[in-house]
Amino acid sequence: MTEKDFMSKTVAKDGIGGKVAFRSPSNIALIKYWGKREGQVPANPSISFTLETCATTTGLTYKKLEKAVPDFSFELFFEGRPKADFRPKIETFLARINPYMAFLKDFHYVIETSNSFPHSSGIASSASGMSALALCFMELERTLDPTMDPDFFKAKASFLARLGSGSACRSIEGPIVQWGQHKDTEGSSDYFALQYPYPVHEVFNNYQDTILLVDKGQKQVSSTVGHDLMHGHPFAEQRFKQAHSNLSRLKEVFAKGDLDNFIKIVESEALTLHAMMMTSMPYFILMKPNTLEIINKIWEFRASSNTHVCFTLDAGANVHVLYPESEKEIVLQFIKDELIVYCENGHYICDQIGQGAFELKGTV
Ligand code: PMV
Repeated sequence: MTEKDFMSKTVAKDGIGGKVAFRSPSNIALIKYWGKREGQVPANPSISFTLETCATTTGLTYKKLEKAVPDFSFELFFEGRPKADFRPKIETFLARINPYMAFLKDFHYVIETSNSFPHSSGIASSASGMSALALCFMELERTLDPTMDPDFFKAKASFLARLGSGSACRSIEGPIVQWGQHKDTEGSSDYFALQYPYPVHEVFNNYQDTILLVDKGQKQVSSTVGHDLMHGHPFAEQRFKQAHSNLSRLKEVFAKGDLDNFIKIVESEALTLHAMMMTSMPYFILMKPNTLEIINKIWEFRASSNTHVCFTLDAGANVHVLYPESEKEIVLQFIKDELIVYCENGHYICDQIGQGAFELKGTV
């Protein structure tokens, strides 16, 4: 599918109104997306575990206007209250998806959104938030065009979510999702993500992710700025090649359930992401001393316990602790005994690999 396939000519009939709602999860990348080209096109392919607990719920109430408006007409509520500082992000999103949804300015919208995790937890809500919103708009498009193919629905929802926030395109489905063109993955695209289509060993079923909240503050450098700094970065080309080759290696790891190599790839990807930040110009560091304390503790524990616990990081100081479900008891005990002290106010979130977004029917 190309970009053109997502341009909809669907129009709205007078008098249409209603409400749709979706719950969409966050995701954690194993192979990281860092660096992009114009139009939210990733510089390299990425792959992620879809999460289950960390999610955004968004309701979209729509009512056909008597006359289309020059600007987007919407009200925005976050956790029940109007949220003026989220408006610019939504406006940018609507402007980006407008070419693909001819009916967008024919409606007035009320967007009501809330997160399952605290807003000030240092957990990025853009992946879950933008994917939930994209799904709501797709559901509206499907209401206007009920013949829509279900695969097209998912692909376009991912395509639109990507325009809101790159990594959001990986939150539509689960449990493992790939975004970005790669020679070994048939059907892969830079424009939308797809459910990982190859065999995955049962050791990855219900894989656990305990998120240690090391720093709940606002990031000093946004992802947008970080991605941008990959332009002219001295190690960029090498890094992009590395992501391609790690993705090829991961295919065998997933098929065989090779946890030793899984750990090597995943931890190396996390540290490489942060190494790119530290070697860009200007350079910056998003890890905190406690991030490093936790990493060292994980390495010590893994060596002494013969478990397969490992870590990954996103663009921040929090640590995602990954481990198979069969090791849940022993690893959770280790986390409580040795890692919680490094978390802000002792806070952490127990999550696991999930199945993706779903519509909330009849509950709204
Ligand atoms: O989706 P963005 O633009 O916020 O970028 C996300 C980048 C990382 O979380 C660091 C990596 C990834 O692939 O999710």
